Formats: sequence, C-alpha cells, structure tokens
Amino acid sequence: MTFVFPRESLRAFPPSLHPDYKSTVKRAPKRPLVVTPHTLSELTGPVYGHDNIRRGDEDLTKQHTGEPLGERIVVHGRVLDEDGRGVPDTLVEIWQANACGRYIHKRDQHSAPLDPNFTGAGRTATDAEGRYKFVTVKPGAYPWGNHPNAWRPAHIHFSLFGHSFLSRLVTQMYFPGDPLMAYDPIFNSVGDEKARARMVSRFDLATTEPDWALAYEFDIVLRGRNQTPAQS
Ligand SMILES: [Fe+2]
Repeated sequence: MTFVFPRESLRAFPPSLHPDYKSTVKRAPKRPLVVTPHTLSELTGPVYGHDNIRRGDEDLTKQHTGEPLGERIVVHGRVLDEDGRGVPDTLVEIWQANACGRYIHKRDQHSAPLDPNFTGAGRTATDAEGRYKFVTVKPGAYPWGNHPNAWRPAHIHFSLFGHSFLSRLVTQMYFPGDPLMAYDPIFNSVGDEKARARMVSRFDLATTEPDWALAYEFDIVLRGRNQTPAQS
C-alpha cells in the first residue's frame, strides 16, 4: 500500500525555523528529516479517543458547577478533505485560555485570574457531513515574552485525528479583526497570505443565538486527496 500526501498542500505549513518566533531557533531540526515509509500499521492501526467522547464534552461552559466568565460563543464548522467533501468521524479537540487570557497550566504564570468554572478543553467528533460544534467563551489575549510586550492574539488550539495516527493536524483558530494578528510571529510564520486567512474564523451572524451567544465559523481542510482507507 502506498500513501502519499500531495506536496502542494505542504506549502501552507509554516517552516520549522522562523527566527521571529524565538523558540523555533532552539527546536528546529538542524539536519534534513529522515523520511520513513508508511506501512499498513500506521495507516490502519487503531486510534484512541473516539469511543471516549462523553456527552457534554463539546460544551466548555458546562464542565463545572457554575458558568465561566466571558463572552459566550458557538464555534462550529466542517472538517473537509481537499476536494471539499466533509470528513466524518474526525476527533476534534480544542484547548484555550479563559476569557482573561490564562491557561490552567503550571507553566502559565500570567497574572490574569484563573476561572474556577473554566478548564478550557473540549472534544467532539464530526458527524456524517464532517460538521462539529463547540460552545465556549471567547479566549483573552495573553503575554508570552517572545519580544517586548508580545501578546498572542485571541486563539483556540485545535487538534484533529482522522482515521489513523498519521492523519493528525494541529492548528490554531483566530478571530476576525484582531489587531494583534499583525504582530504575532506564530500567525505570521505561515508565509502565504491566503493560507493565513484560512486560520481566521468568520463571524457567523446566522448561528448566533439571541440573548445568549455569538458565533464563529471555522472550516478545516485536511490534506485529503489520498485519504486513509476507512472502514465501511
Ligand atoms: Fe495558546
């Protein structure tokens, strides 16, 4: 069995070394990568997670006794292959800072407050049309020390698992109109302007819920022309 990702889609990926994003200087590989051939076990082996999604995992505002502070939002979209077809049964996981820009993580020492009603992690699987939906609060910007007074634009981290471990994609979703994007070396490590635009969600008035939540739409396109064979 052969399995080849279309090389043209790799152009959208940021380089491993992007000096403006300082930590890449230390971690970028200094030697050419070794290409290992994919075999049946990588392509068809079991992946974890799909069976363990619990009802409510997709609603980050209902994981504690009270509701979190912040601007309640619906984040939804489709996971699509390269030809625009929805990809079902994709495990979609998100993690994010709270509305004040603080993560629950021992290395996050930002002076903004933690929210006892917000953990900031959720998961779901796409439906038959590749759709997913989360309810959460809009994350705040946070400082990160990369350069003088560097603040990350508001963002939500996404991880997607398809039908095999090799079909994983990790990315970040941004919010339209955020002035911090222009100054963010992580966002701008993606060199292609159109590719950067694909990381920015769309304000979706039609999906907002009156007196309850705003909404953003974020479609994710996988490198999909040669999909992992799926079980029928
Ligand atoms: Fe982050």
